[in-house]
Amino acid sequence: MHEIKALSADKAAAYAELEKSLGALLEGESDATAGAANMAALLYWSLPEVNWAGFYLLDSRSRDLLVGPFQGKPACVRIPIGKGVCGMAAARRATIVVPDVHEFPGHIACDSASNSEVVVPILVGDRLVGVLDLDSPVRNRFDEADARGLEALVRIFVQRCRV
Ligand code: SME
Repeated sequence: MHEIKALSADKAAAYAELEKSLGALLEGESDATAGAANMAALLYWSLPEVNWAGFYLLDSRSRDLLVGPFQGKPACVRIPIGKGVCGMAAARRATIVVPDVHEFPGHIACDSASNSEVVVPILVGDRLVGVLDLDSPVRNRFDEADARGLEALVRIFVQRCRV
């Protein structure tokens, strides 16, 4: 069993702790679905004020994003590249921090409780694999420290799992 430990209040320290936990969680199994499922659960249950944490993965046939392992309320199934925060982060291949989703043109509302969001693209070299998406009911929940911390966690996921 994996214990969910309380994180340090300092964000950099908290993400360093999450890196250790994620490394331990992904040890000994390289299946991407298993890894993504446990990573979504780790983030959802560890990070404060998060109401959705999970993956949208590139469907190589349709070329849009398809919902993958997540924790939170049921979410929209497909997101075209370029649409919503997820599709925009995928198109730009860059992390997007949205302080207030109601002010983001084209934001796709999956849970009416969500007020802020961060989306990190998942890249294997030059190949886009999908995005990691976190939502919060709190405006301004995510900042640069979250963006950099989540990017480091995505790098660990890509290194450890066959994606
Ligand atoms: N809000 C996202 C859609 C996914 S849900 O937040 C889980 C977007 O605009 O892309």
